[in-house]
Amino acid sequence: IPVDPFDLVIFGGTGDLARRKILPGLFRRFCAGQMTRDSRIIGAARGDMDETAYRDMVREAIAEFGPSRSEACAVEDFLSCLGYVSVDARGDDGWCDLKSALREEEGIVRAFYFSVGPSPLKKLAERLRQHGLAHDEVRIVVEKPFGHNLASARALNEELARHFDESQIYRIDHYLGKETVQNLMAVRFGNMLFEPLWNAQYVDHIQITVAETVGVSGRGSYYDKSGAMRDMVQNHLMQLLCLIAMEPPARFDPDAVRDEKLKVIRALDPVDPDQIVRGQYTSDGAMASYREDVENAASKTESFIALKCYISNWRWANTPFYLRTGKRLSDRASEIAVVFKETPHSIFGIDSGRHRNVLSIRLQPNEGMTLGVTIKEPGPGGMRLVDVPLDMTFAEALGPDAEEAADAYERLIMDVIRGNQTLFMRGDEVEAAWAWTDPLIEGWERRGDSPKPYDAGSAGPDDAAFLINRDGRRWRRIK
Ligand code: BG6
Repeated sequence: IPVDPFDLVIFGGTGDLARRKILPGLFRRFCAGQMTRDSRIIGAARGDMDETAYRDMVREAIAEFGPSRSEACAVEDFLSCLGYVSVDARGDDGWCDLKSALREEEGIVRAFYFSVGPSPLKKLAERLRQHGLAHDEVRIVVEKPFGHNLASARALNEELARHFDESQIYRIDHYLGKETVQNLMAVRFGNMLFEPLWNAQYVDHIQITVAETVGVSGRGSYYDKSGAMRDMVQNHLMQLLCLIAMEPPARFDPDAVRDEKLKVIRALDPVDPDQIVRGQYTSDGAMASYREDVENAASKTESFIALKCYISNWRWANTPFYLRTGKRLSDRASEIAVVFKETPHSIFGIDSGRHRNVLSIRLQPNEGMTLGVTIKEPGPGGMRLVDVPLDMTFAEALGPDAEEAADAYERLIMDVIRGNQTLFMRGDEVEAAWAWTDPLIEGWERRGDSPKPYDAGSAGPDDAAFLINRDGRRWRRIK
């Protein structure tokens, strides 16, 4: 279904995120007929560039990062919706040009995407107001990192609130736009099957893994100040945790969902230092070490983290949640695994053992879900039990289009245009997440802890395995 026509200004319109994700994503929405030809995308950045040069840049970005099967004519049609304005966020240059590039007609949604990092945000928000570009219907999209800690996130929220109402602010966490993540809500709240078992009585523990093979990907100066905790746990893993653990919202609407997520974050216990393992990758000969990548020979920043936490409420009391994420691991694999308790008693004799069901929700690759169930091993060998997966790989179940249609950014941008904030973080959620992570980070900084080395291409430091093994459990294989 096409969205309303829009004027979308991308500050940071020549940057990496715009080239890799935002513009190719919008192109896909254009091909799908969701973005119509009467919409405009205006790249805005400091550099001087004319419209033709900008369109050339976007053409290349689409060739490199866009859909594999794009037709040349569709690309040219899409490019004709694009403009470029050189704007100085800190000064006054370019703002009049930007104003004249925007349409004042009724029915045209106006959105500003701040794909610029936190430092120019305040100025940009001020300038938009000063130059009369931000009327009350305008939407702004803010990228992570949203602050560096609670104090800076709060300051940023206050700053934005001076110029915009909360209903106009779309804080992106692109994990919320992933197909499987949305499906998680459909599975939990669209079926009778799972919800009665979704609690401490039946669930043994939950694992959330986001494993990456990439290193810091040329973003060393940002990453070395953040580390895995700030870069991944405070936002992406926390959001996954919320969706897994939250109570059913009364409606699938923004505040109903976000209220429930917020309650989860607020119910998180502080984590003891001995329940956190931080790691840093070392060179495996072929690939550089973390310290080489970030050009900081003394860096104590973690590129890997594993931790165990608890949510203190009726549903989850005493159920461990194990979280882990890291760079330069053996495989790219993200999964949430709900590990159910063992059957209380085996009627099939000692040999068959006691079995657990595991619901695995895979974010990438091969998005989908599998439910491990125990059945009888086929054949005449007696009552021997085996675990087999009930498999629902989305690409197989929904056909080849499922894969092509599914980038998180494009989905979320369409939600901005539709005015749907359900999959965006509210200011209080972000602050609550920092309020939980800050003391953990301050703790290891105060103690001067060094991360444990791990080989690039491995599954992380050995201590991460001990963290879970000492509880009589084990991590699921990354692969
Ligand atoms: C970003 C982080 O938010 O998410 C990156 O800053 C990380 O460090 C990326 O690599 C992972 O996203 P995805 O969609 O590739 O899992």
